[in-house]
Amino acid sequence: MHTTTGAHFTRIGFILAAAGSAVGLGNIWKFPYIVGENGGGAFVLVYLATIMLIGFSLLLTEMLIGAKGKGDTVSSFESLDPTPKKRWKYAGFMALNGLVIMSFYSVVIGWIFHNIYTLLFFGLPSDVPTAMAHFTHLMTQQPFTQVLWHTLASLIVISILFKGIKQGIERLNLYLMPALVLIFIVLLFYSMRFESSFLQSLSFMFYPDFSTLTSHSIIQAMGHAFFTLSIGMGALLTYSAALPKSASLAKSAFYITFLDTFIALLASVVIFAFLFHFDAKPSQGPGLVFASMPVIFYELKTMGFVLALLFFLALAFAGLTSAVSLVEPFVEYLINRHKSSRNQAVLLSVASYYVVGLVVIASTTQGISTYLQIGSRSFFDFMQYISDSILLPFSGLVMALFVGYVMPQKRVKAYLKDEMPYAVYVLWLVCIRIVAPLALIFMFLNLTGMVTF
Ligand code: PHE
Repeated sequence: MHTTTGAHFTRIGFILAAAGSAVGLGNIWKFPYIVGENGGGAFVLVYLATIMLIGFSLLLTEMLIGAKGKGDTVSSFESLDPTPKKRWKYAGFMALNGLVIMSFYSVVIGWIFHNIYTLLFFGLPSDVPTAMAHFTHLMTQQPFTQVLWHTLASLIVISILFKGIKQGIERLNLYLMPALVLIFIVLLFYSMRFESSFLQSLSFMFYPDFSTLTSHSIIQAMGHAFFTLSIGMGALLTYSAALPKSASLAKSAFYITFLDTFIALLASVVIFAFLFHFDAKPSQGPGLVFASMPVIFYELKTMGFVLALLFFLALAFAGLTSAVSLVEPFVEYLINRHKSSRNQAVLLSVASYYVVGLVVIASTTQGISTYLQIGSRSFFDFMQYISDSILLPFSGLVMALFVGYVMPQKRVKAYLKDEMPYAVYVLWLVCIRIVAPLALIFMFLNLTGMVTF
């Protein structure tokens, strides 16, 4: 049997590494801007419902495959597959999804590096339009600057993965995750001082106005639920293969889901409170965090600079800990199944997403962008779209069917019986057998235009 090459995590190390994977740019960069673009509360409600019904159960499903299959993505499916031909192992190629995601994720981490650099050398912008103009300038007119930062992000990923992830990542997360939460709590208190804007932010986030909900936003909310919980590309599967025996799968899945959702909501409430206070619009797209946060910190005057630096550093590390988990599954696959050395495997994986990342950068650059449109989308948007609306949900569906129908139920039940009360187990089973597949099939039919609503 092929097993993972890494050492086992400690229990807390596993939670931290898994939360480090889940809590990333998706929570702090992406969630607020898609909530903004989709009109707030109703979108948040769909997102929360998806997280609870589908996200959590699929997260547990993915972790179960890793923890019991005990290998890289392909080997884990293979060892759990009860059919003679073992074709389910091909589902393990979901590890490639991580490289697709990295092609734009690394570019966005680069934007954070650039922000840190301009912060250190040029200070903070004083208003949202100026900050937005800087961001747009970077996106559309400075491809080489972006390539530089994308390269730096890739080199950092290489250097961490060369060493193996346990030492570096476990320790990194131990300090950075609490720091991130702490910084946001400080900001939350600060934003509460803008009483009316804070209330406006809460009502924007939690008062559902269903007239803003379109079928597109429902699909985006569902897709983001996968993305934010790192479901469907084998990150948590691969980490779970190194889970210590004593750890509870269900509890770990719960902590990860809770932490991830909590940080996404916290970040959004804070960001919108500041935005409303400065009369800015929530629908600013990918530039939202890059334009609004620096201005928030500018307002904080003396402390602001330090906090801004901390915030963007924390954001960079949140991004990097997720990035490592996006690449590691394919690295493990290459090591286990193709006998690559770790270094070779890392270089090959990083090189492949690095090159696609260059195209992503070109796709937002003025003058070239029109040649890199796919339909109505830029290549950058397209990569995000296929990953969170197609690749991750598709792998999610495959995992639900595999554990729900293909694996012998007695075995699955035996794995989970000490983990949770029987009623919860039945609920989980209904979710992965019926609710999740139906929702996902519905989502795909809608994407292909066969069902509209
Ligand atoms: N969950 C990460 C985020 O929210 C992104 C990610 C997706 C990481 C899939 C690993 C796997 O930023």
